[in-house]
This record gives sequence, structure tokens and C-alpha cells, in this order.
Amino acid sequence: MKPRILIVGGAGYIGSHTVLQLAHAEYDVVVFDNLSNGHRDAVLAGELVVGDLADRVALANLFAVHRFDAVMHFASSIQVGESMQQPARYYANNVGNTVHLIEAMIEHGVQRLIFSSTAAIFGDPIRIPIDETHPLQPVNPYGWSKSMVEQILADCDRAHGLRYVALRYFNAAGAHPDGLLGERHDPETHLIPLVLQAAAGRRTHIGIFGTDYDTPDGTCVRDYIHVQDLVDAHLRALQWLMQGKPSAAFNLGNESGFSIREVIRVAEAVTGQRVVVQNLPRRVGDPAVLVAGSSYARAALGWQPRYPNLHDIVQHAWLWEKKCTPPL
Ligand code: UFG
Repeated sequence: MKPRILIVGGAGYIGSHTVLQLAHAEYDVVVFDNLSNGHRDAVLAGELVVGDLADRVALANLFAVHRFDAVMHFASSIQVGESMQQPARYYANNVGNTVHLIEAMIEHGVQRLIFSSTAAIFGDPIRIPIDETHPLQPVNPYGWSKSMVEQILADCDRAHGLRYVALRYFNAAGAHPDGLLGERHDPETHLIPLVLQAAAGRRTHIGIFGTDYDTPDGTCVRDYIHVQDLVDAHLRALQWLMQGKPSAAFNLGNESGFSIREVIRVAEAVTGQRVVVQNLPRRVGDPAVLVAGSSYARAALGWQPRYPNLHDIVQHAWLWEKKCTPPL
């Protein structure tokens, strides 16, 4: 029998890419998603159960009907700025609802969880690259909510034998290389889709948040990691847990940083369009540089990003952008 995996948030950006890959890899997939940010038509494989982690009855029914071998948890609120405005909502969704999921797992004897964590747990880094030994020092409720869940998972491992892998994504980007899936946030706040929307004529320009950072060209530097490479890390983390290996946390990035201006230049090269830029003040809470040290994931999981080249990442995102919003 195929292993059955519950994908919470499987209708969202990274979740939907993972669902497709798991199905190709002969896993039986059940998606649980409230469709608040996800899309029904992004679930290209498996069974979709529409439900909310806040609804304990729906969760109990889900675990009563299916016998899951593992759970992947992608569902959360993800906007840093919004988390500063509405902290209680972020803690309720990202921490409270995750506790509901963990409790349902413990109650039903499901002992493997892969959790979507973030570079935001490191706050303003004290050194670059950021590896797993870097102190956790979040600077916003979003980052705190993810680091709290990592702590809760460590405690539940000790108390209940719940085995988990926390995957700390740096800047997730790109889209399915065949144009089947991509990023569809509403509102969109991420740099690459916004730059591509400007290139497609859907926006007049791209605003750059801060040009006076202590970086080579004054704009923020980020480590953009292809969504398919994140998916690959999830499959490897799943195998890790299925093989009975211990709980772990991995930083996932390409270990190279690109400035906002570099991203815009690559986008212009990929699209053949000029992108109009407007220099704006800094956005609150943006660290100048975030670059991952990912050697632990490479050594332990055998993870090797397949699309480390920013050009490929932007090319795939452009394929998706053109499919979603054909040029005007
Ligand atoms: N940016 C702009 N203009 C825009 C949008 C973004 O200049 O219109 C800049 C941001 O200020 C930042 C960079 O582009 O310097 C990347 O911004 P994103 O919003 O695409 O991504 P972030 O680095 O802010 O956020 C990502 C994840 C978060 C995670 C964070 C870790 O999306 O979930 O990394 O710090 F918390």
C-alpha cells in the first residue's frame, strides 16, 4: 500500500507543488485546506478536503477517516508587515491552529510531521551565511510564531515521540518548470512576481524598499530558492522520517544572495522588457542581507538544488506569470 500523506495547506504555493511531486513519487495524498489563500484548481493530485485547522471537529473527522503515515504542514499566515499589525491573529493561526493539528496527530498516533518554517526566525542576522547554529531571535510576530512552533515540536518530541523536520525556507521563488503551477497570492507582496507583473504591463513600476542599505548597490540582498528545490527537500525530509531518523531542522537556500537591483536586471533579461523602478524608503523589519548556510541539508538529506541559477528561477516564474495574466 502507498504511504498516505496529509498535506495541510496543499492548495497554496509551496504546498500545491509538493502535492504534485508526491503523487508522482507514488504517495497517496490528502489535502486539507480552508482555501483562504489557496486555490481549488491548484490541487492537481490527491483528494481535497476543504476545512480549517481551527475546526477541531473537522480535524477529528479527517484523522478518523484516514490513517496517515505522515503530515506536511504548509498552512499559515505569511506576511511580516501584517503580523506587526495583527499579532493575535498571527499567533492564533500559526501557533494555535498548529497545536490543534499536533494534538490530533498525537491522539491518532501519527508521529511524523514536516513543518514549514522560515528564515524570519533568525531576525536581523549577526552573521552571514545563516546556518542552523545561528541564534533564533525573531523581530516580528510572524517569525516568533514559527519559532514558537519549532519549540512546541521539540517539546512534543520529548513528551510524545512526535518526530518532525522543520524546514526553514529562505526566499521561496519560481514556479513549476512546465508552467503547471505557480505563485498566486492576493495581495501579492513578493518581489519576483511583482517585478514580473511590472514587466508584463500589469503594474506601472516596481518600488524598491530602501536604497541605502550597507550592501554593494544599497538594496537588500536575499537568497532566492526555487520552489521545486523546496519540494525536493520535503520529499527527502519525509524519507528521513520514514527511515526512523531523529527530529531535525534545516535551513534551505542556495547560499548565494542577489540584490533587488540584480533581480530586476535578471527579470529584464528574461522578459525582454524594461522595468520602471521607483526608489522608496525602507520597509520596516527588512534585514539588509539574508543568505542561507545549507550544508547540513546537503550533507544529511543529500539535498542539492536543481535550479540554483536565478535566471532559471525567474524564467519559470515568468512562464507562470504569462499563463495567469497574458500581456495586455
Ligand atoms: N521588495 C521591494 N519591493 C517590493 C517587494 C519587495 O523592494 O514591492 C524587497 C523587500 O523589501 C525585500 C526583498 O524585496 O528586501 C524581498 O522581499 P519579499 O517580500 O519578496 O520577501 P521577504 O524577504 O520580505 O520575505 C521572505 C518570505 C517571508 C519570510 C522572509 C524571511 O516571503 O515569509 O523572507 O525574512 F519571513
